[in-house]
Amino acid sequence: MSTHSLLLLPGDGIGVEIMAEVERIIGFLNGRTNGPKFETTSDLVGGAAYDAHGVSITEEAMAKAVAADAIIFGAVGGPKWDSVPYEHRPEAGLLRLRKDLDLFANLRPAICYPALADASSLKRELVEGLDILILRELTGGTYFGEPKEIVTLENGEKRAVDTTLYSTGEIDRIVRMGFDLARKRQNKVHMAAKWNVMRSGVLWRDVTGAVHKSYAPDVEYHEILADNCAMQLIRQPKQFDVVVTDNLFGDILSDEAAMMTGSLGMLPSASLGGVDETTGKRRALYEPVHGSAPDIAGKGLANPIAMIASFAMALRYSFDLSREADMVEGAIAKVLEQGLRTGDIMQAGMTKVGTKEMGDAILKELEATSA
Ligand code: IPM
Ligand code: MG
Repeated sequence: MSTHSLLLLPGDGIGVEIMAEVERIIGFLNGRTNGPKFETTSDLVGGAAYDAHGVSITEEAMAKAVAADAIIFGAVGGPKWDSVPYEHRPEAGLLRLRKDLDLFANLRPAICYPALADASSLKRELVEGLDILILRELTGGTYFGEPKEIVTLENGEKRAVDTTLYSTGEIDRIVRMGFDLARKRQNKVHMAAKWNVMRSGVLWRDVTGAVHKSYAPDVEYHEILADNCAMQLIRQPKQFDVVVTDNLFGDILSDEAAMMTGSLGMLPSASLGGVDETTGKRRALYEPVHGSAPDIAGKGLANPIAMIASFAMALRYSFDLSREADMVEGAIAKVLEQGLRTGDIMQAGMTKVGTKEMGDAILKELEATSA
């Protein structure tokens, strides 16, 4: 078995605590005699990197990111860095990783674990069995379009500009991936855009319609206005399978979808690049959808499940280790069935635990399944 290299970037706030739980799972996998082996290296990103080096990610860390088989990322940001220069804000480190590694496809599955159906803010019957995938374009659109600036006008007023910019190629590659993913799921794709207001939305609709016709006529396809999609997600979430959308709408719709699963603390994600023709490998970064939660950071209260589930996605998508991924995901489902809950998913009659206890319980389940 070959050794897989991982770069761990815990980042800020609860990122540090939840990454520690992933490290224990890696330790468990490495301790098995016949299993795959992982070699890890860590570095700073976000506010932690700014405090140490004055930048949100160093060139050395970027070089490690390029070299690694996969990056496991915690979370960045917090009020402590509210007044650092804009180009050095913690989020800039994450955005640079996405852009420089060309991680254009962000997969955000929202799966409602049966044990958590009552923790959702929606009624049980709406979310029970929910399994949707928000496929967010991650390297284009409003996040990266130029110009992006605040200028002072002659009359002293300021004017802010963000630019939403997409080329056909950028849309084509992400929607193609959406159709491919749908074929392995419920075979249905919704493309969400605002073609009634935005020129970029018109292009999204044209390109996706053409790709559907030429590449994926076998897949059920719907166009949906992004605002209507936000409404329908709450009204009848199970009508969706794969929702493919741009960077900004995807940011918003994926937070909305996450909440249906009970808590933002449950949702993992994978950010994938294209396949490198010489190595056959895909660049990839795995991170929980939630942020650094500064309010509970350092207290041992954070839910490590989204972080651990993100590592399970790495096992599946970067290393083709579906058996190990199933083991980790199965262990998560088990501890939820046992009634263990961190504060964010706590319900009456359940047992409230902290980050480390949740990690302990998941490890114990893993040990039991592999014994
Ligand atoms: C996310 C986050 C990021 C984003 C922030 C931290 C820059 O909200 O990954 O959804 O807006 O993309
Ligand atoms: Mg977000």
